Amino acid sequence: MRVFVTGGTGHSGSYIIPELVTAGHEVTGLARSDTAAAALSALGAKVRRGDLQDLDGLKEAAADADGVIHVAHRQDLLPSGGIDAVAAAELPVMLAYGEALAGTGKPLVAAGSIGSPGNGGSLGRPATEEDPALPVGDEHRGTLRARNVVESAVIGLAERGVRSSVVRIANIAHSTTDRAGFLPTLIALAKEKGFAGYPGDGANLWNAAHARDVASLFRLALEKGPAGKYWHAVGDGGIPVREIAEAIGSRLGLPAASVPLDELMLPGHFGFLANVVTRSYPASNLITRRTLGWEPAQPSLLADLDNGHYFPAG
Ligand SMILES: NC(=O)c1ccc[n+]([C@@H]2O[C@H](COP(=O)([O-])OP(=O)(O)OC[C@H]3O[C@@H](n4cnc5c(N)ncnc54)[C@H](OP(=O)(O)O)[C@@H]3O)[C@@H](O)[C@H]2O)c1
Repeated sequence: MRVFVTGGTGHSGSYIIPELVTAGHEVTGLARSDTAAAALSALGAKVRRGDLQDLDGLKEAAADADGVIHVAHRQDLLPSGGIDAVAAAELPVMLAYGEALAGTGKPLVAAGSIGSPGNGGSLGRPATEEDPALPVGDEHRGTLRARNVVESAVIGLAERGVRSSVVRIANIAHSTTDRAGFLPTLIALAKEKGFAGYPGDGANLWNAAHARDVASLFRLALEKGPAGKYWHAVGDGGIPVREIAEAIGSRLGLPAASVPLDELMLPGHFGFLANVVTRSYPASNLITRRTLGWEPAQPSLLADLDNGHYFPAG
C-alpha cells in the first residue's frame, strides 16, 4: 500500500514508518524542515515537504495515497492556546482528509487518547473499544476532553465512505527513544523534588504501551481495520501510579512518597500533570486483540523502566 504518514519524526511516528516499510508498504512522510526530511529518509520513507497548516497539500497527499496515518499534532500551540487550540487546529485537518477520501473506502488511521471514553475513571470499569469518545461542551474547554471532537470527527468519516479509525494511545508510550512523554517528565520531577511522588495512596491506575507495539497496531488498523472503530493501544491495562513512582524512585536511589490529595500541594508537586496523575484510566484491549490479531510483544512498562535506558549514567 502507498501510505501517507504525518508525524513520522515524532515518538510514535518514528516506529510506525519502519513498521510499515518492513511490512512492504511504500511510505511518504510529511516533513516541514530539512531536519525532518533527513530523518524520514533515514527511516526509509519518501518525503513530501509541507505543513499541517496547508490543508490543500494534505488533501492532495491523501488523495495520492492508498491510505493515511495521522500522528502529527500542533504541540506548539499548547503554551498559548492550550488543548483547545491543538484540537481546533486538528479538526480541519481531519475534515480535509475526509474531503479527499470520501467514498473511496481508503483507510485513515488517526491518534487518539485512552482517556477519551472515560475521562479518568468516570465509567467505573475498564474502558473498551466500544465506548465512544465522551461528548464535548463549553464546560470542557481547557481540559483533555476538548480533543474528543477530533476523535468523533474521524469516526464520523466512516459514514462518508472512509475506512476511518482511531488508535487510542495509552497514557504512557514508552521506548528507548522516549524523550518528552509523561515518563521522562515524571523522572525529571522526581530528580528535582528529591523523591518520586504519587497522589494520595497511589492506587489509581494508569496504562502503558511500548511505542513499537503502538506502531504495529497502527499498521494492522491500516491494513484490515473495519471503518468507524476505536482501537486500544494498551499493553499494561492498569498499573497503580504508586508502582510507577516506586520503580522510578528505586532506579534513581530516591524514596517514593505520597503527595497529599490537596488542591494546592498536588499542583505544587506535579504542575500541569496534576489533573491527569490523580485520575484512573483502566482500559481493556480485548476487542483490539481479537479483531486485529494484535499482540503486544515488547517489554512492559515496569520491565522497560528496569532496562535502565530511562536513567543514563551521570
Ligand atoms: N502517551 C502518548 O504518547 C500519547 C497518548 C495519547 C495520545 N497521543 C497522541 O499521539 C500522537 C503522536 O504523539 P507523539 O508523542 O508521537 O508526537 P511527538 O513525538 O510530539 O511528535 C509530533 C510530530 O508532529 C509533527 N508536527 C508538529 N507540528 C507540525 C506541523 N505544523 N506540520 C507538520 N508536522 C508537525 C512533528 O514534526 P517535527 O519533527 O517537524 O517537529 C512530529 O513529527 C499525538 O497526536 C499525541 O497527542 C500520544
